[in-house]
Amino acid sequence: MIELTKTGIEGLDDILNGGIVRNSTTLVSGNPGAGKSIFGLQYLYNGVERFDERGIYLTFEENATDLAEAATSIGFENWEAHVEAGDIKVYDKQVLLREGDFSSSIEKLLGDIDDASYERLVLDSLTMFQLFFDNEREERTYLLKFTDILRENGLTTLMINEQGTTFPESDVGLENFLTDGNIYLIQTPTETGVNRYVWVAKMRKQNIDSDIFPIEISEGGITVHQNASAFSMIGENESPL
Ligand SMILES: Nc1ncnc2c1ncn2[C@@H]1O[C@H](COP(=O)(O)OP(=O)(O)OP(=O)(O)O)[C@@H](O)[C@H]1O
Ligand SMILES: [Mg+2]
Repeated sequence: MIELTKTGIEGLDDILNGGIVRNSTTLVSGNPGAGKSIFGLQYLYNGVERFDERGIYLTFEENATDLAEAATSIGFENWEAHVEAGDIKVYDKQVLLREGDFSSSIEKLLGDIDDASYERLVLDSLTMFQLFFDNEREERTYLLKFTDILRENGLTTLMINEQGTTFPESDVGLENFLTDGNIYLIQTPTETGVNRYVWVAKMRKQNIDSDIFPIEISEGGITVHQNASAFSMIGENESPL
């Protein structure tokens, strides 16, 4: 029986056929402003609020205050209380770059993960994380080590992947081999604003619904709508028939 971790994001767990496979690593890709960080914040926040699961948020934001402000402004009002209680642990840029070199920081982080019990982790972002290594060999070594430690400690992880284009790039990078699942957040401009979508492209061991579903970001975070046809990607002036 496969154990699942619920995201708690309305509509998403249904598409995932119950949730994300426990102890797996899922890549969350999307262009700027697509909602990747909100997705990550919501995943950790719901973990603590609803499922009694503690989480770690790794961010390359300057400081944890910026992250707390983002969380509070979207409606996760107990974010700071959870951080103070230690149920959410934030490693911001200041913490991550405190040691002389990045590898030492990662070693320290891995030690912390080993010592305490957390169930969820968000890396925001993998793209930034990769930039801090001197060469590809070091990057690969640490990524593999990192994912091993996450697995050994039973963490269910979201790795955020920054993409420059609206749709997934065709070349398959290293990150795709390291991950068990791929979720894309897509935003497309319209005459009046943006349309937002989520696409679960891959989830190892899970029979997922691979359609593209419309999403909404509002107070309270991300909501996934099940009725794909009501949010057609066809322009308003074109007939759908
Ligand atoms: N309270 C809110 N109500 C509605 N939309 C919001 C709210 N707060 C933020 N947003 C929208 O959410 C989006 C930002 O999401 P988020 O910061 O998660 O994006 P991202 O994918 O992490 O972007 P980046 O790659 O730049 O980090 C913005 O497009 C913003 O318009
Ligand atoms: Mg972000």
